[in-house]
Amino acid sequence: MIEVRNLTKEFVKYEKEKGLKGLVKGFFNAKKVVKKAVDNISFTINEGEMVGYIGANGAGKSTTIKMLTGILTPTSGEVRIDGIIPYQNRVENAKKIGVVFGQRTQLWWDLPLSESFLILKEIYEMPDAFYEEQMSFFNRILNLDEFIKSPVRTLSLGQRMRADIAASLLHNPKVLYLDEPTIGLDVNAKQRMRDAIKMMNQKYNTTVILTTHDLDDIAELCNRILIIDNGKVIYDGSLHEIKEKYGTTKRIEFEVRDELNDESLNLASVFNVHPDELEITREDKKLSIVFPKLKISVAQMTEEILRRFDVQDISIFDADIERIVARIYDEGKVTL
Ligand SMILES: Nc1ncnc2c1ncn2[C@@H]1O[C@H](COP(=O)(O)OP(=O)(O)O)[C@@H](O)[C@H]1O
Ligand SMILES: [Mg+2]
Repeated sequence: MIEVRNLTKEFVKYEKEKGLKGLVKGFFNAKKVVKKAVDNISFTINEGEMVGYIGANGAGKSTTIKMLTGILTPTSGEVRIDGIIPYQNRVENAKKIGVVFGQRTQLWWDLPLSESFLILKEIYEMPDAFYEEQMSFFNRILNLDEFIKSPVRTLSLGQRMRADIAASLLHNPKVLYLDEPTIGLDVNAKQRMRDAIKMMNQKYNTTVILTTHDLDDIAELCNRILIIDNGKVIYDGSLHEIKEKYGTTKRIEFEVRDELNDESLNLASVFNVHPDELEITREDKKLSIVFPKLKISVAQMTEEILRRFDVQDISIFDADIERIVARIYDEGKVTL
């Protein structure tokens, strides 16, 4: 569905010399600086896949999405979306895709929301029956009826995002691009967004590419992630693999009744590890310990804590994906 081959985007900047000399010389002596925002990226995404496109700020995520959606033309390389080259066939491409940018809306600000949907119906030349079917589907999963008569500018961010995702999916696009779709939303609103994306994917086998800083989005929606760093793809694989390979810590949360005596909790020396390898936090009754699972087993750690505290409850977690991704950034490259 999505084919990206040797995709590169360079931005050229002209940096003027500083100070008076720079002012006098002006533009003519400005130094040309080339920035490779996207650097020779290749990947293929099959129909129905939901892929997380993640990386630090400035890594090149949005620039990639802009080339995939046809907003930007590559410096070199090629993109094909369902056989179409998006930046050469914008109109045809637009019928096949839906786009949500978390920070911007595609809705008409001053019109009641219902009017925006009617305009989109006309733009996409949707038959009445199909439009009705889609609207009732989105109503069911996103409760648009609660605010469908209100002007878009009066909606809360969560409501507006629900409206935006419905608008981007109204014409049943084959590919959905989401650039930070849950940014700024509260927990409930985030969950609604994720549910809508999941249900759309199940119903229509929609292909989804998602950039996000919220790794819960990724964990819930994507079984494949591409990690981009400095314009290059440094990881392409499943979340499961990445957890196996890089998830070298476990976290156990104990609910303890006794007041904790910090000095008694000298776990680093008990287990003969460096104190930096342990992360111990205590909040009221909750004692949380992150530890290297290859050096200390869950059983050993649990036994040690049980000997010291009156423990009422225990929960065991795998390494947070945040931690894993942070490690990948630290190491700079990934070899699997
Ligand atoms: N229009 C532009 N002109 C010049 N540089 C740009 C432009 N857009 C992005 N960049 C640069 O390209 C790099 C990648 O940006 P972007 O794709 O927005 O990253 P991300 O979305 O991963 O945060 C950054 O260094 C950014 O400053
Ligand atoms: Mg971005």
